[in-house]
Amino acid sequence: MTEIFAHRGYSSLFAENTMSAFYEAEKAGADGLELDVQLTKDGELVVIHDEKVNRTTSGNGFVKDFLFKDIRKLNANKKGLKKETIPSLIEVLEWMQTNTLLCNIELKNGLLAYEGMEEKVIELIQNYGLTDRIIISSFNHYSIVHCYRLASEIETAPLFLEGLFMPWVYAQSIRAKGIHPKYSTLSDEIITRTMENEIAVRPYTVNNDADLHRLFRLNCTSVITDDPVKALRIRKQYEKRP
Ligand code: G3P
Ligand code: CA
Repeated sequence: MTEIFAHRGYSSLFAENTMSAFYEAEKAGADGLELDVQLTKDGELVVIHDEKVNRTTSGNGFVKDFLFKDIRKLNANKKGLKKETIPSLIEVLEWMQTNTLLCNIELKNGLLAYEGMEEKVIELIQNYGLTDRIIISSFNHYSIVHCYRLASEIETAPLFLEGLFMPWVYAQSIRAKGIHPKYSTLSDEIITRTMENEIAVRPYTVNNDADLHRLFRLNCTSVITDDPVKALRIRKQYEKRP
């Protein structure tokens, strides 16, 4: 059965990459979360999509220029009523001790190198005993390989935006167990052949009904969606009846 990953949490209804969005994704019945990490000036891993805090919070400036104690003062729900703090990755991993969710941690180190990010993320995953519930992804494929070399027991997956030729061959060459492509770049045949080669396929960000139907029909490994409730409703139609 295709797994449903809530993209930045249940972000179609709750402020993206906040604990509320993660709690609500779990409550809704998602199988997993997708979240983004950046690094503060004092080396804390924080869960936020952009390099700058401007779009999603009450503040301005680069994440890398904030101390953790200062970035925590910002409101990550500037359009909503309830104040939300930017979560630390630790906060999410601690909460994951209370549930069975999977989690895709996307390292946002494509634009800024964030020296030491891979080591920090992996140390936390290992310390929290979550090596078999986490997938590390990134658009920075050097980083993916670095993660594999640091901890081959943690699944890695390259993110990409354009069509790759025989993506399973590429994934195998960098020892990744999955691929995270933009959903619109994938033909049915590429999805099927990649999975036949034992490489997981987790397209992002799949919100449209027709696209969700197609991926469930193909029994694609996972979908990454902003709306886990809609995805769950559609998936029901493909679940085998006794
Ligand atoms: O991980 C899938 C997806 O989140 C990648 O793009 O920009 O939403 O982080 P973006
Ligand atoms: Ca992401």
